[in-house]
Order: sequence, then C-alpha cells, then structure tokens
Amino acid sequence: MSSEITSISDKENYFLVGPGPANCSPRVLTALSSYPILPPGYQIFKVISEVKQLLKYAFQTQNDATLAIQNSGTGGLEAAIINTVDPKEVIIVAVNGYWGERVAEIGRLREITVIEIVPKKPGVFTFEELEEAIKKHKPVLLFITHGESSTGLLQPLKGLGNICHKYNCLLAIDAVVTLGGCPLFVDDWSIDIAVSAPQKAARGLPGLSYLTFSPKAVKRIRAIKTKPPFYYNILKLCDVWKCFDQHSPYYYTFNSNLLYAAREGLLELLEETLSVSCDKHKKLAKRLWSGLEKLGFEFIVKKPEDRLWTVTPVYLPPNISWAKINEYLTTKYQLFVGCGLGSYENKIIRIGIMGYNARDELVQRVLDKLQEALLYCQK
Ligand code: GLV
Repeated sequence: MSSEITSISDKENYFLVGPGPANCSPRVLTALSSYPILPPGYQIFKVISEVKQLLKYAFQTQNDATLAIQNSGTGGLEAAIINTVDPKEVIIVAVNGYWGERVAEIGRLREITVIEIVPKKPGVFTFEELEEAIKKHKPVLLFITHGESSTGLLQPLKGLGNICHKYNCLLAIDAVVTLGGCPLFVDDWSIDIAVSAPQKAARGLPGLSYLTFSPKAVKRIRAIKTKPPFYYNILKLCDVWKCFDQHSPYYYTFNSNLLYAAREGLLELLEETLSVSCDKHKKLAKRLWSGLEKLGFEFIVKKPEDRLWTVTPVYLPPNISWAKINEYLTTKYQLFVGCGLGSYENKIIRIGIMGYNARDELVQRVLDKLQEALLYCQK
C-alpha cells in the first residue's frame, strides 16, 4: 500500500472549481496542520469564542446563538430543523432544487408535516406566492434555500422574514453556498435560522457547519417537546460555545484543527470585508457567464439577475458526457468542475468560482480549458 493519499500530482496547481469544497489559502492550510489541542480548556475555548465572533460578522448578526457544529452542511440543516420543529407540526419547504428536496426529506424523517412548494414560474419564488402558501398552510417554519447550488438560483430574501413573522412563522435558510460570496444580512432581513458551512465562499474546509438562531428561534428550541438526538442538541452545544450565561466546557471533542482553519478563513473574509468579497464574486460570476455564453453553453437560470454568484450550472452540449469532459479536465489540468445532482445528473456541469478561488485568472483558466475540452470531446 502506498502512502500517497491523493492522485494529485502538482499540489500547487490543482483547482477545485466545482460547487465546493473550493481550494483554501496556504494560511488556512497552515492553520489546519497545527497541533490538536485538548478539550476542555482555555485554548479551545479561545478559538471557539473567536470563531463565534467572526461568524457573527459573516452572518451579519448579533444573535447570541451563533456557533459551529461538527458535521457537514447537511448536518447543520438537520440540526436546524430537528431543534426547532416537533413531529406533526407543519413546515413549508420552498423547493427549487436538490437542497430544498433534502430538507423536505429531513423533515419527513422526523415525522414533521412537510408541505413542499415549487415556484409557479421557473426561477426564484416571489414573495406573493410564499405569503399565499404561508396563509394557506399556517406553518411554524418556512425553509428556503438562499443559494441553490444544484440549479444556480439566488433567492432574494430581504423582506421575507417580516412576511413570515406576520403569520408567526420562522424563516430558516440554507446559506451554505452564499455566506461570504453573496450579500446576506441575517438581522436586517429578519432571518431566524441560517445554516452555512466553511468550504465554499467562507474559505475553510468541510467538516463543520455554521449556524445562527434568532431569539425567536431560540425560544422555539427551548419550547419544543421532542428533544433532539444527543449529538444534535443545539442548547447543549450553545453552552459549550457560551452563547448564553451558562458555560459547559465539554460536550464532545471538537476537531481543533478544523476550528483553527475555520477561524483563519473567516478572518480572511473579515480582512477583505464582506462587501468587497461579495462584489468580487459578482464581478467574476459575470465574467464567467459571458465566457460560457461565448462557448455556447446554456444556463438553467435564464435571467442573470436570478443567478447565484458563486456556483454556475450549465447544460452539457448534446452528445458530450459529463464523464468525458471531467476526465479530460482532471487528468490533463487537475481542474475539478462539478457534476449535476438529482434530476440534473449527467445533464449539466457546475462551475464554482468562490472563496480563495475567486480570482480572475481562474475564471480565464476554466474558460480556456473548457473550450479545449469541448473540442476534444467533439472529436
Ligand atoms: C454541494 O454543495 C453541491 O452543490 O454539490
């Protein structure tokens, strides 16, 4: 058995330009390779409290209940739902792709009554249709994906929280692929629950999920009758993160290296500022879209104003398979673009220019190599 852990031949020149994880900076990778530290203790609490402060900045929130937990973005979504909703209660899941479908499934597994809605016209949901559904079904929570990386939609959210609150409904969002790359103002937009993860525009690595809960959401967490499973108990984890007065030094063993890396990625974001980072993602996305259009690619999302800035899915040209294009790009250039998920499997490729990879030269590189790959695949 060889000790080689990846087949990447040139570690300086490989590019994760799919839906994530994205590459992270040398600074983040250095942080990852620090010595693990022992929980509980002063050192781990220091990094935890710094990550919490940085997350408040990234989410633009003053929510006390802001924390990271140890699992994937999906784990964060599951934690958010099962800590705030009891079985048999009604929630609406606004489904615009794979991630919405997943949350609906999480809800059903918890025996929550899940009402799935889809947009009346292809594209983002209008607030009118969302309000109509809330009026009709009286859910305790509306879940919507901010950035649907499976289809490339960027759902507007400003004003939606106030609509939900008129009906005593919480607003929960999936911001996994938008945090740090597209504007998101948790407090100003009255969002009750936001879930994200480090490995996209937040410049860290997979293995954590980031969560924030408004005071209304915390009230609900305290009130639900069916307690969450041990590992997903947000109130207990909030005690480790000292979100409220109580501080428990230990609940489970956090991977301190991941926390160090997360802190470094979030610090990079703070140093750059959210507004500069988001503007940069938007500018690069536009450049990418125009290049893809010139190459003849068709977008799932037709209106540029509805498109996500971090991940762009486009249809594969007729008779070109995902496998062939992917093989060409990875073996020849170590360029990793993403495949389609769910009903889009084998129909699209997904290009992510985000986080540390949000750089002009990478947009150009992706476009040049894609053009080459198309010629190769058409032969
Ligand atoms: C992951 O977030 C993906 O969209 O594949």
